[in-house]
Formats: sequence, structure tokens, C-alpha cells
Amino acid sequence: MAKYVVTGGKKLAGTVRVSGAKNAALPIMAAALMTEGETILENVPNIADVRCMGRILESLGAVVTWLDANRLSIKVNGKIGSGTPYNLAKKLRASNLLLGPLAGKLGRAEISMPGGCLIGSRPMDLHIKGLKAMGADVTTEHGLIKAKGKLQGEKIYLDFPSVGATENLMMAAVFASGRTELENAAKEPEIVDLANFLNAMGAQIRGAGTDLIRIKGVKELRPVNYSVIPDRIEAGTFAIGAAITGGKVRLENVIPMHLVPLIAKLKEVGVHLIQEEDALEVGGKEEYAPTDIKTMPYPGFPTDLQSPMLALLAKAKGTSMIVENIYENRFRVAGELKRMGANIRVEGQAAVIVGVDQLYGAQTKATDLRAGAALILAGLAAEGLSEICGIEHIDRGYEGFQAKWNSLGAEIKRIED
Ligand code: EPZ
Repeated sequence: MAKYVVTGGKKLAGTVRVSGAKNAALPIMAAALMTEGETILENVPNIADVRCMGRILESLGAVVTWLDANRLSIKVNGKIGSGTPYNLAKKLRASNLLLGPLAGKLGRAEISMPGGCLIGSRPMDLHIKGLKAMGADVTTEHGLIKAKGKLQGEKIYLDFPSVGATENLMMAAVFASGRTELENAAKEPEIVDLANFLNAMGAQIRGAGTDLIRIKGVKELRPVNYSVIPDRIEAGTFAIGAAITGGKVRLENVIPMHLVPLIAKLKEVGVHLIQEEDALEVGGKEEYAPTDIKTMPYPGFPTDLQSPMLALLAKAKGTSMIVENIYENRFRVAGELKRMGANIRVEGQAAVIVGVDQLYGAQTKATDLRAGAALILAGLAAEGLSEICGIEHIDRGYEGFQAKWNSLGAEIKRIED
């Protein structure tokens, strides 16, 4: 496994451009299969997950070409397959986002049950329940989810505002006959971006970004050029990096409105922030107040910034508490941070963080994408050298990670084992 070696004690300073959103690009790439012709996507992050999704689309018959660093062409001409190959699907949970497009467009889909991961079981029950409500015959056997049948519009209540289930059912409803209503839908900005992309192609979706999304079935879509929104989680990770190192960083290509919960929490602990229309200036300090955080579906505090905030609060002047309400097992990084001197006690869905004066470099292991980012952040603030292994997780979701952070004054070296 490759590892990063981080030299602690460097203040971040300078300007960095935030990449396109991983969690918008992935469903939009899946949706591009729903039309014939060439779709051109701009501001696509060139990361392992996106490249893997590209290979999955190619296995289904699409032609996927990088036109330049962040511009992607997806060409669909004629028949597309209905099954995702296990060897690729197992690498990428988001391969489950092909369920809706294929079931909606072809009337049949066969996708690999995404494996659970270290943050939780991540079931697909809400996706399956919604497709069944729309008239699909759905079976789950031999590690596959199979959906068959022409879809009818239906009123569907989501027991939990699942991002993936909202995306899959919204895409499935585009070609369903009649009207579909998704109640208690997820409201993340990535859902709105997907709906905007689908509507640009000729879909009729209203209410994305609210908890009631209405979709009127259409006959076909046409290919478009579309630019993906900036990645609010990458932006938030940089903001926390500026804070934890006491540095001063300007983030460009951000949508501050998408970062409201993080901006509020950073201000609460004492970080200085200036918002511009598409930029954010973050001024760190030497010490921070503690705070309490509850992760919630958007517009609540995002679970994907929970681990990075754990790192920041590890050095706050007082005791903080974080409650993780989205995943059942997303505090694994606490054990790694404790190896660096953090004082964190995990009790079920809550972590109590007693701030310490200093973190110390150590050898640690990333267990998921955001845990990896948190360990880098702690390494930046720690005294001495930190080694983080399992950084393939970081490559999955942060474009040009090492180059971007080092351009801000970090000292991160990559060592291939
Ligand atoms: C998306 O995952 C993101 N991934 C995740 O980001 C993010 O953490 C998550 O939304 C929540 O914001 C992508 O968009 C590719 P969910 P998704 O369905 O769609 C439960 C990252 O680091 N649930 O909203 O899988 C589930 O178990 C990744 O970029 C069901 O119970 O998230 C989980 O506890 C990590 N039944 C909760 O809902 C279902 O059918 C949230 O899941 C579906 C979900």
C-alpha cells in the first residue's frame, strides 16, 4: 500500500482551486447513459472513482474519453448493456447508481450488490422498495440486484432521505409512464445538480433540493454539455486544513451556500471566514473553542466532514461532542487519532473529544476516504512526522491531493511500498 509522509507544523497559505464534485459527477455520468449521442461534462474531477465509473460505462457499451484534464466525453450509440461487471462494481459503491438509469431506460437492470464498507452496512432497501413501487420486479440473489419491467409513475415515501435512493429513483422516473413523487427526498446540492443535468437533457423534474421531488415521465432525452458543481466536501476539507494549521487560505471555485453548516461551525470555534460569490477566505488561529456537532442530511452538518472536524476539535480548548446520525460506524478514525495523542472517547453514535495541547506524529492507517483526509489534517498540525498508509482511499476522492496541499505550503511526500 502507498503512504503519505506528512511533516507537521507547517501553516497553510495561498490560493487553491476546488475541483468538481465527486458526488455530483458520479450520478451525472450514470445519467449520461440515458441518452443517445455525445454528452460533454466539464469540471469533472480526474479521480480514481470517476475513472472507475468511466470503465463501468464502457463495459456497458459507452465510449468514454477525457478531452482534457477535467472535460469528459461520454458517447452512447445504440444498444447498451444492462449489467455492471463485478470486478469494477466492487471497487465503487456508486456503481449502484446505474440501477435507476438502466431500469428506467431498458426496463431491465442487473447490478452488483455494493459491498458494505468500513463506515456501515449501506443497504439498498430504499432503492429496491422504490423500484418495486414503480412496478419493477426486483430480486436480490447471488450478490446481484435484478430489476425487470416497464416502470409506472408512483408516489414514493423514502423512510430516510437517502442520497443514492433519491438519485436512483429520480433517474428511474424520467422515462416512467405518468408522474412520480419522491417524498422525504434527500436535498443535497448534488441531487440538484443531477436534476439540472437531467432537465437540460429534456427531463421534467421539479422540486430537487426540497423534500418533495416531482418527475413527469418523458419519451426520450437528448445529449448536452454540462458543468459539474464544485466539490463542497473538498472545499470544507481545505477550510479545516487552514484552520488546523493556523494558516490563511483562499478557496476558489466554491459555492459558499453549499458550505453553510461548516462555515457556521468554524465561526463558532473561532475561525475567521470571508465569503465571496464563488470564493471563501479562511483565516486560522492558534487556538479554538470546543463545539458540539450532529451530522444530519443536508442542509445539516455533512457526515463527510465529520472525521476532518474530529481532527480539528482534537486540539480545541475544551471538550466537544460529535454525534454521527448517518452511518453506524464512522468513528474508526478516532482510534488512529488517539495514536497521535488525541483524547477521544467513542460511545455508540457519539464521540467525546477532550482537547489536548499537542498532537504528535505517528504511523496511522486510513480506513475510508474522509478518515484519510482527517489523518492528513492531524499530521499537518502534529509535532514531527506522520505516516498515513491506505491512501488509495484519498486518491479515490480528492483530485491532485498531494500537489494541491503542497502548493499551500504543506510538506506531504508519497511513498509507494
Ligand atoms: C452518498 O452516499 C455519498 N456518496 C456519501 O459520500 C455520503 O456520505 C452519503 O451520500 C450521505 O451524504 C455518493 O454520493 C457517491 P445514503 P449514499 O444513501 O448515497 C442508509 C464520500 O465520502 N440507507 O444517503 O450511499 C445508509 O445505510 C461518500 O464521498 C439505508 O438504510 O448515502 C446510510 O446509513 C461516503 N437504505 C444512510 O442511509 C438505503 O436503501 C445514508 O446513506 C440507502 C441508504
